[in-house]
Formats: sequence, C-alpha cells, structure tokens
Amino acid sequence: MRVPFIAGNWKMNLDARAAAAVAGAIVREVGERTDVEVALCPPNVYLKAVAEILQGSSVGLGGQNMHYELSGAFTGEVSAAMLLDVGCNCVILGHSERRQFFGDTNETVQQKVTAALAAGLTPIVCVGERLEQRNEGQTLEVIRDQFHGSLAGVSAGDMTKVVIAYEPVWAIGTGEVATPDQAEEVHANLRELIEAKYDAAIAQQVRIQYGGSVKADNAAELMAQPNVDGALVGGASLEADSFLAIVDAACSPCTR
Ligand code: PGA
Repeated sequence: MRVPFIAGNWKMNLDARAAAAVAGAIVREVGERTDVEVALCPPNVYLKAVAEILQGSSVGLGGQNMHYELSGAFTGEVSAAMLLDVGCNCVILGHSERRQFFGDTNETVQQKVTAALAAGLTPIVCVGERLEQRNEGQTLEVIRDQFHGSLAGVSAGDMTKVVIAYEPVWAIGTGEVATPDQAEEVHANLRELIEAKYDAAIAQQVRIQYGGSVKADNAAELMAQPNVDGALVGGASLEADSFLAIVDAACSPCTR
C-alpha cells in the first residue's frame, strides 16, 4: 500500500510569524499521524524556524528547489546538504514555475534529482503540460519526455524513493482543477512509464501526487482515484484549516 503524501508548497508567501503559526497548527493536528505523510515546504529563510516547530513530529520538511552542485560559487543557491542540515527530508524539483521563470530544464532537474537522492533527500519531481499542449493532444507525450528526461539515470533502488507530482500548468494557481478523470489518466500513464522502465513492483510503490488548485472541496474526489497518491498543494497550504482538510481527504476513512 502506498501511504498518501500531502505536501504544502508555500512558494514565496507568508512571513516569519505566519509561517510559525501555520506550522504550529498543522503539527498540533497531524503531528502524530502515520496513515498519511505530510510535509511543509517553506521559503528557505524560514526552514530552520519551521524545522524547530516540526521537531519530534511526523510532519516532514522540504525545500522548494536546490542546486545540483555540492558547494561553490553559485550566488543565491542552496545545496542538498544545506537542506538536510536545517532538517529537510524532501525537496520539490522541477516545479513548473522553476521551469518557466528560472530556466530549469529536464537536464538540470535530472542533475538535481541525482544530487538529492545521493544526499538522502526525497525528491518530489514535478511534471505537467501547458494548456496549449493539452489542447493539441500532446499531454501524454510531454509527460513522457519530462519523466524520461528528469529521471534519467535513476536506479531501480532509488526510484522507489522518488515522488512524482503531476501538475498541469494550466491548473496551478488558477482555480481550474483537473477533473478526477483527467488526473487519473495521466497518473495511470505515469505508472505505466515507471513499469516499462523499471518493473511492476517498483511502479506500485512510487507515489504520484496531483497538484494544481487542490482545495478542501475537490481533494477527496481527486484522491479517490486509484493512481492519485496525495497532493502538492500551493494556495490552500497557506492556511492551516484548508490544508488540514486536504490531509483528511487523503485518508477519508481515517480520523485525526
Ligand atoms: P496551487 O499550486 O495549489 O496554488 O494551484 C500548486 C503548486 O504549484 O504546487
């Protein structure tokens, strides 16, 4: 069984006080749950403070990006070791905003995935098509290219540690969520890609999150899909109540 995984991507939002308040409220509610994995991905400058709040709880901590080199003259960047050092266990890689605004490509994402795995961080690797690509029927082709490009060279042993986030670009921050059928089609296709590259057992272990306008009121039907194993949540992760409702929806028979 795949444990559902809900990660909150705060992006460049909240201040120190709000970050502490949201993290504190989430720890109080889900800090001991093990039926669902929860992680928060604050801006780098708040990682340490949030780590202290999460300490001793089951809630994980992630970066939103990292550099693939171990260290060096890379102004403004942080390494996998630095993320680990401040308490991270995971990192979002290849988010569409990184691909769109900061030049991330399948090649650099692949280098980051390799560095994250080598350091012992769980990479949450984002893939997703733009609206015009969907309208032109290219969705599965785009996802296949991103899958093979971003995960080139990942060994079978490492693949079980990777989390994939399917995030259709047209659904991110727009309020326009993929239908459960649209999400399931891509998620099932991703699982087939994993099976073809590795094997069926590995494909069954890898968790595939959906991301893109996930809210309390649409999370349950998305996560009821057989191949949707959680969510990467942006806007709705900025308030504890809406994020906690999504955590609940990931595991509807469970109660917190
Ligand atoms: P959103 O963002 O939930 O605000 O659409 C999702 C994401 O970018 O991970």
